[in-house]
Amino acid sequence: MSFTVAIDGPAAAGKGTVSRAVAAHFGFAHLDTGLLYRAVGAKVMEGADAVEAAQALMAEDLEGDLRAPGVAQAASRVAVDPQVRAALVDFQRAFAARAGGAVLDGRDIGTVICPEAQAKLFVTASAEVRAGRRYRELCEAGHEVTPEAVLADVKERDARDSERATAPLKPAGDAVVIDTSEMSIDEAVAAAIAVVAEKRGDRA
Ligand code: CDP
Ligand code: CDP
Repeated sequence: MSFTVAIDGPAAAGKGTVSRAVAAHFGFAHLDTGLLYRAVGAKVMEGADAVEAAQALMAEDLEGDLRAPGVAQAASRVAVDPQVRAALVDFQRAFAARAGGAVLDGRDIGTVICPEAQAKLFVTASAEVRAGRRYRELCEAGHEVTPEAVLADVKERDARDSERATAPLKPAGDAVVIDTSEMSIDEAVAAAIAVVAEKRGDRA
């Protein structure tokens, strides 16, 4: 039987970290949907048409350094386009419906992609905390960035993602909000697992 966990939230809130841990705990598959938009964004940086790139992506593997800082901005720009989003919907829904359970993280999973998801989480934190985390992450990966530029990038993407007309970033009405500003990774993961276990009807 399928069981879908939808995890949404703004940039660098800890969605991926929490999603991977939830998937490992319950034995579910995990899809980071941001990588789809990043892959389209990376193709557009090379001169491709966004909609064609989204359609082509569905027939190939994701490749390249999709975590590079410029790619996130390019992703957020292509993600405004309803035709780009439409090209990526079926793949995400099929993934969500797979037998054995699935965790999808992104911006519109609980609101648009899987409104029927059995468990919905909205993972967030203050922009300053999120930018600090992303700054450390990018430095560790060898990218040359400044804290100020990373904070500006996070705020710009938050605004674009929240204000777009199609599938804007917002918590689903039935999502459980987890603010990780003052939480360690272990605390955030434990809180998420507790929510999913409760929705599954597991005994504590
Ligand atoms: O997927 P998303 O962009 O929401 O965030 P992430 O990639 O899971 O997390 C961004 C960074 O914050 C990673 O380096 C995590 O290890 C870190 N993090 C943290 O320090 N504390 C948390 N409670 C969650 C994540
Ligand atoms: O890791 P981080 O949270 O910084 O970004 P991401 O999840 O990789 O997403 C990159 C960009 O893709 C976001 O800023 C959104 O504009 C877009 N995105 C989206 O529109 N819908 C999704 N389901 C996932 C990502």
